[in-house]
Amino acid sequence: MADHTHLSTSALGAVITAPVIAPRQRVQVEVKSETPFLPKAAFFLISVASLVGSYFTGRLHGLDGIELVWRWLQFWGLALATGMLAWRLFYLRRSEVGLDAGRVTDLHSDLLGRVRVIGRYLAPVLVLGAGTAWFVPYLATWQAVSLTAGSLALAVLVTQAHKSRAAALAALLIGAGLLAVWAWADSSGLGFLAAVRSIHLWAFAAWLGGALFNLGAAVPAGRKHANIDAVVAGARQLERFRWVVRTSLPTIIVTGVWMALRYGGVTSPFWQSGIGLLVPLKLMLIVALVVIFITCPLYRACSPVRGVCNLDDLASADD
Ligand code: HEM
Repeated sequence: MADHTHLSTSALGAVITAPVIAPRQRVQVEVKSETPFLPKAAFFLISVASLVGSYFTGRLHGLDGIELVWRWLQFWGLALATGMLAWRLFYLRRSEVGLDAGRVTDLHSDLLGRVRVIGRYLAPVLVLGAGTAWFVPYLATWQAVSLTAGSLALAVLVTQAHKSRAAALAALLIGAGLLAVWAWADSSGLGFLAAVRSIHLWAFAAWLGGALFNLGAAVPAGRKHANIDAVVAGARQLERFRWVVRTSLPTIIVTGVWMALRYGGVTSPFWQSGIGLLVPLKLMLIVALVVIFITCPLYRACSPVRGVCNLDDLASADD
């Protein structure tokens, strides 16, 4: 495909258009300068839901004050790193069928560059979270040691994940393993509960880390590569992420509702006051997230680059 891309800024400065000459058609790639609101809202709401969940569990284990926030910080850091690395390993492609190899490679290199930047931000969060285990009295020594050592190892590996698949894979396995250690520790020796809780946490990680990748890597890289091949590659990546959300969402709801029902039936007074109110709050958050997931593609709000949300928009831009 010939590279006749050129960029021009609109009078408002908000929209950049990049006409690209394809062999049979002329396609406008339109890029908005602002990051769309709905993905940011989703990221925020998933984080709040995780805070509510870890607060609920932490309180029931007798934790208080700063211990609760610190413990949540570790969950959040582990989930961000694990889910982001899943993106880096499984959803990115160095080449995409039918697309210009050079342009897809350029986009891929840029995305990995952003993985490097994200890794540098995640490392301090992981180091900070690593100490929490020593202030959580119900953890066994082996659990505290593995949570601290694992978090520190993950903090190092995540900074290397952009250049080494092996480092990314090792980090992903450590992150998922540490979430399972928490799930085991929080489940008082009940194996099935620990398994359900692990699945709840892994689904949370896949979703939150994917949302981070979208905001921190896919959006800025897509904006920079305003050409048709990058748009199609971005749209395919986004579709892969949508499958993650389509899987994570029902998984989180089913595992969450199952865990909740252990405390009382649907009409139990437990849900109507005190800490029990946090579970209906989580249900409201998940409803809001479902609405965002449905609304985002309808309003083409997942990406500032026209066509990434829905490739059909490229055809209509050409009319
Ligand atoms: C985006 C949505 C959600 C996220 C990110 C999320 C995340 C979390 C996290 C991080 C924990 C703490 C686990 C621990 O400390 O060991 C948790 C616990 C929990 N979650 Fe969720 N959750 C979500 C949705 C839901 C939903 C929809 C329900 C269903 C009502 C639910 C029910 C629960 C319950 C009951 C617990 C506590 C389990 C226990 O301690 O026995 N969650 N969740």
